[in-house]
Amino acid sequence: MTIKDLTYTALFTALIIVLGIFPPITIAILPVPLVIQNFGVLLAATLLGPKRATLSVLVFLILVALGLPFLTGGRGGIGVFFGPTSGYLLAWLGIPIVVSLTHRFINNRFKTWYATLFSLIIGGIVFVDIIGSLGVSLVSHLPYLQVLWSNIVFLPGDLIKVIVCFMIYQRVKKHV
Ligand code: BTN
Repeated sequence: MTIKDLTYTALFTALIIVLGIFPPITIAILPVPLVIQNFGVLLAATLLGPKRATLSVLVFLILVALGLPFLTGGRGGIGVFFGPTSGYLLAWLGIPIVVSLTHRFINNRFKTWYATLFSLIIGGIVFVDIIGSLGVSLVSHLPYLQVLWSNIVFLPGDLIKVIVCFMIYQRVKKHV
């Protein structure tokens, strides 16, 4: 890792923290809020690549685990990793690698512009909701498929995040 790598990594950890300032939007059907913070993780995965992005999310999660109030709504502490959103938080750590693997898989076969967009949808939405729902189901004792379906409420917001992330990527990809 170069100084440049470490600087970018720290910068994206900071971005994820700052996005936690936006208040959570609670929804009736799930004990999981609508947040903006996952946009920072998506952006890190797209712009930094798997190694640096995973490190930036890992540092963020360690700071949260240490008790710093960096999660949306000012939450932090080891307890959040045993709460209903624990699955989503762990999935955030996996986003960079899933996005990267999906991207490589599509690009090897089709060499197309939509590899980035599609891999963001798979890694940032499908993967996160599958793993996140597992946590909700286990902690809140709700049927897994019912929880998975309920994630549909996040879909419009998460699709907007993915598209904005893709647009930013198209603009700045030459510089990172
Ligand atoms: C937390 O703050 O404890 C984690 C919140 C996880 C929210 C998930 S991430 C995917 C989906 N999209 C949202 O806007 N909210 C959920």
